[in-house]
Amino acid sequence: MALRKIVLRGDEILTKTCKPIRKVNERIRILAEDMIDTMIEADGVGLAAPQVGVIKRIFVCRPLLEDQEKIFVMINPEILEKEGEQVSNEGCLSVPGYIGTVMRPERVKLRATDLEGEEHEYEFEGFAATCICHEYDHLDGILYPDKATAFMTNEEYEEILRKLQEEREQEASEDEIEEKE
Ligand code: NI
Repeated sequence: MALRKIVLRGDEILTKTCKPIRKVNERIRILAEDMIDTMIEADGVGLAAPQVGVIKRIFVCRPLLEDQEKIFVMINPEILEKEGEQVSNEGCLSVPGYIGTVMRPERVKLRATDLEGEEHEYEFEGFAATCICHEYDHLDGILYPDKATAFMTNEEYEEILRKLQEEREQEASEDEIEEKE
C-alpha cells in the first residue's frame, strides 16, 4: 500500500487536459492501486490521476452509496450518454473544506477500460452519476468550483442545513397546532 500526495486547487496540474493511456501495464496497475489506497485513506468517493500529479486519463471511485466496497477503475473513460438533471452538493479532495452546488445529469452511460485492459459499458444514476461526472471532469482539467452555482465553506453549508431543518420542524409544529384547532 502506498499513499500519494493529493494535489490541491491552485496547482496548475489540476487544470491540464490528461493524456490517454496507451497500454494498461504494471505502472498503471500500481498507479491505480495507490489511487485507491489514497482515496480510501482520505475518505473520498473518487480520485482522478491529476489529483496525485499524474496527467493521465484514469480515475478510481466508489460511487455506489449502497455498496462502498465496490470500487471502479476507469481508464480512458468516455461519456456516451447523459440524461436528465439533478442538483448536487459536492466536495473534492483537492478543495478541502468547501462544498459547491453543481447541476449534473441524473443518469450517465460510460465506456471505460479496466485494469485487465478490457472495455466495459456502465450506467450510473443519482449520486453515482454525479460522482462519475465530477471525476471525469478532472481529466479535462475542470474542478467543480468552475461550474458551481454556489460555493461555500463546510461550516456555511452546515449552517444552511441546520436552518432548513429548523424551518421544517417549525412548519411541522405549526401543522400540528392547526390540526388541534
Ligand atoms: Ni474532485
